[in-house]
Amino acid sequence: MTHENIISTFNSWAQDGRAEGMEEGHGDVVRQVISQLEIRPGMQSLDVGCGSGWATRLLASSAPGAGAVGVDASPEMIARAEAGHDLTSRARYEVCTFEGLDFPDNRFDRIFSMEALYYAVDLPLALAEVFRVTKPDGHCDIIVDRFKESSLTERWEETCGVAMHYLSEAEWKEALEAAGYQDVTCTRVIDSRGPGAEEDFETSAHLASWQEKVELHEAGSLWIHGVKPA
Ligand SMILES: C[S@@+](CC[C@H](N)C(=O)[O-])C[C@H]1O[C@@H](n2cnc3c(N)ncnc32)[C@H](O)[C@@H]1O
Repeated sequence: MTHENIISTFNSWAQDGRAEGMEEGHGDVVRQVISQLEIRPGMQSLDVGCGSGWATRLLASSAPGAGAVGVDASPEMIARAEAGHDLTSRARYEVCTFEGLDFPDNRFDRIFSMEALYYAVDLPLALAEVFRVTKPDGHCDIIVDRFKESSLTERWEETCGVAMHYLSEAEWKEALEAAGYQDVTCTRVIDSRGPGAEEDFETSAHLASWQEKVELHEAGSLWIHGVKPA
C-alpha cells in the first residue's frame, strides 16, 4: 500500500459517508478507553488517523484546558473533521502521514489511535514517529479491531480491499517496545452495547452468520498501552 492508495481509498470513504459510521461503530470502545487515559488539565493529545475527528474532540474535552490535534492522510477526512468541529473543543486537524508527523520531538502527553495504525505504509517508521513526538513519561494508547486473536478479522484485507497489518497481541507489544515504549500492556475491550439483536442481523462480506457476529463481539478490540521513559 502506498500513501496515494490510502489517500484515494479514505477520500472515497469520507465522500460515501463512512466516516460518520465509524463514530457509531467505534464510539463505545473509544469512550471506555479515553475515560481511562488520565488526561489532566492542559494536557495535549495527538489522534493518529483521526478520520472525521470525533475522537480528537473527545480527547480535547477530557479536561479543562486540554487540547488535541488529529492527523490523517486523507484531505477529505480532514475536511469532514473541520466541518464537524465544535467551537467548545480545543481541537484542530491536519493532513499528515503517520510516517512523517509534522511536529517537534516530545510534543504530546498522550498519543491515541483508533483503528488506524494497522494501515501504516511502514509500521516501524510510524511507531518511531509517534514515539518521537511523545513527551517523556507520556503515554501511547492504540486500539485495533483487527488482530490475530480475533481470527474472523483475517478476511478484512480481502473484503475491504485495503492492505492492513495483521499482528497478534504479542507482536503489537513487541512493536511498541521496539519503538522505545516501556510497560507495554494489552487489554481487550468489549463493546458494552453487546452484539446487537439477532433479528436485525444481516450477512455481509465480513460476517456470514449471527454466530460470527457474536464471536467477533466477544473477541473485542485490542488496546495496546505504552509509556515513554521519563
Ligand atoms: C478506519 S479509519 C479510522 C478513523 C478514526 N480513528 C475513527 O475511528 O473514526 C483510518 C484512518 O487512518 C487514515 N490513515 C491510514 N493510513 C494512514 C497513514 N499512513 N498516514 C495517515 N493517515 C492514515 C485513513 O485516512 C483513515 O481516515
